[in-house]
Amino acid sequence: MKKKPNYKLRRRVALIVLILIILIPILIINSAKISHIPTLYKYREYKDIVNSLYGADFTNDEVRNLMEVLKKNKQLNEIRYDFIIELKGKGYSKESINYLLIHLNRSEITKLISKKYDEDLEEYIKIEDFDYDKYDRYVAYQKKHKNLKKEDIILRVELKIDLDNYEDAEEIEDPDSLLAYVNRHRYINKNYEPSDLVEMDDKYSNNYYGVNKLRSEAYEHFKEMVDDANSQGIEFVAETTYRSFDDQETIYNNYSYEHTREETDKYAARPGYSEHELGTAIDLSNVWYIEEGDEEYEWIRKNCYKYGFIMRYKKGKEDITKYAAEDWHIRYVGVKNATLIHNKNITFDEYWYKYVKKSN
Ligand code: DAL
Ligand code: ZN
Repeated sequence: MKKKPNYKLRRRVALIVLILIILIPILIINSAKISHIPTLYKYREYKDIVNSLYGADFTNDEVRNLMEVLKKNKQLNEIRYDFIIELKGKGYSKESINYLLIHLNRSEITKLISKKYDEDLEEYIKIEDFDYDKYDRYVAYQKKHKNLKKEDIILRVELKIDLDNYEDAEEIEDPDSLLAYVNRHRYINKNYEPSDLVEMDDKYSNNYYGVNKLRSEAYEHFKEMVDDANSQGIEFVAETTYRSFDDQETIYNNYSYEHTREETDKYAARPGYSEHELGTAIDLSNVWYIEEGDEEYEWIRKNCYKYGFIMRYKKGKEDITKYAAEDWHIRYVGVKNATLIHNKNITFDEYWYKYVKKSN
């Protein structure tokens, strides 16, 4: 008996042949499109695409085709070739494009593309701590401080120096550290009291209004400093040292009875925000508070670092410390840190940001 032809099988074969007839030319055309850029084919990340676009100078269309293929092959999750090409067209470098693609969302990139090329942005992106989320703050602060370098603008924005005093404040986590950093935006817990406070001897402290206290390590170094100064004919003592939150509140309130809020804030820290609450700060006096022009001041300015102390609120640095200069206020940070701060001639704010925060 003649076998009945297997139509089902034939139909299937015909269908497969038809599909192949349609697919093969498409595959050939697509692979031809990128055949002259084979090295790119293995790349899966925008970064590599962007780098290749710049390095080998491919045309926009070539890159566009390549990315389409990669997307179809699922070698790229999300395609942003328009962004790459538009940013390149604007004049942004490959480093900038790589940064922007990773850190900005679609609407931010679209907005950026709608504006003219931003030379400052290009320079900011090269700086290690650049954060696009804070870019508007850099621009606003730079407008007010035209001569500052971009690195310094970033540092100040990171320290919140550009914000109004007490805005976006946070509690410090390490009040026991000799490098604990307190400023207008960083406060100490209300209940903090150093565990190693010691009472100061009358030889080193004006205890007339109550016995002053310091953390023990700071006190040992302070005694040594005063003894050495005395042996060279220079006399000074501690006038005020450790203050609790409540002490600081009293001082702040007393000051504010006779001054405007603005004036009070210039000179006195609000409770929680004073270094004196750390137990490592000292206001110095001879007969009155030490000031520039006093021989004691000169001696302290030149020598205090050898004993681990720094001058915390210097003249000319008010826009970083955010306090009026205080010639009489020193703070213990240990000999190694004080020596570095002295040699680099920087503020504690800058030192903390560059050498303490970043190394943690
Ligand atoms: N006068 C300094 C800033 C303080 O109150 O801690
Ligand atoms: Zn002080």
